[in-house]
Amino acid sequence: MNKGETVKGVILACVKELVQTRFGADKWKEIHEKSEFKGSSSFLAGANVDDSKFFNLLKVCSEVLEVSFDQLLDAFAAHWVLEFAPKMYKTFYTKASSAKEFIKKLDYIHEIVTKTIPDSTPPRYDLEWPSPLKAVITYKSNRGLVGLAGKLLKQVGVYYKTKLNVTDDGKDKITVIFPS
Ligand code: HEM
Repeated sequence: MNKGETVKGVILACVKELVQTRFGADKWKEIHEKSEFKGSSSFLAGANVDDSKFFNLLKVCSEVLEVSFDQLLDAFAAHWVLEFAPKMYKTFYTKASSAKEFIKKLDYIHEIVTKTIPDSTPPRYDLEWPSPLKAVITYKSNRGLVGLAGKLLKQVGVYYKTKLNVTDDGKDKITVIFPS
C-alpha cells in the first residue's frame, strides 16, 4: 500500500456491483456505512480514491461478508473480467478472439484506459514468451497485488473458455501456460 497513490473509482464501482448482485443491497449498505466512503461519491468511475481507502473497503467487505481476503479477491476477479469489464470496456473483448490475444494486450489496455487521467498509476505489464504456449508476465505496480493479477488472468481463460494454468511467485512474476 502506498501513501499518495490513488486507484480509479471504477474499481470501487465494480466492488459495489459485485456485493449488490451476489450478496444483496442490504449487505452493501452495511459495508458502505462501515467503510471510509460513507456519504461520498468516490464510486464514480473517474474519481481518484486513496489506495488506503480502497484496501480498507476490501477489508470491510471480507469482514461483513464473512469471506477470507483470498475468496473476496477471487469473487472480485470473476466479477471484473466476466461481468463488469465486458459491459464497461466492451471493445477490448470484441477485438481479441482468444485468451492469448487478450493477454498480449494487457499492458496496452491498462495504458489506454488511464491515459487521459492525470497522475494515474495503473499496473503495467512486460510479457516474455519462452515458448509459444508459455507467457511470463512481469507485473509492475507498487500495490503488491500480484495474486489478484493471477486471479484476473485465470478469469480471462474462463471468459474465452480456455483452461489456463496460472501461477505467481508472490512478488512480480506470473506464468501462464496455454493449452496445446
Ligand atoms: C478489459 C479488461 C481490463 C480493464 C479495462 C482493466 C482496467 C483497469 C483499471 C482502470 C485499473 C485501475 C488503475 C488505476 O486506478 O490506476 C486496473 C487495475 C488493475 N488491473 Fe486491470 N483491467 C482489465 C483486466 C485486467 C486483467 C486481465 C488483469 C490481470 C493481470 C488486470 C490486473 C489489474 C490489477 C492487479 C489492478 C490493481 C491495481 C494495481 O495492481 O496496481 N486487469 N485495471
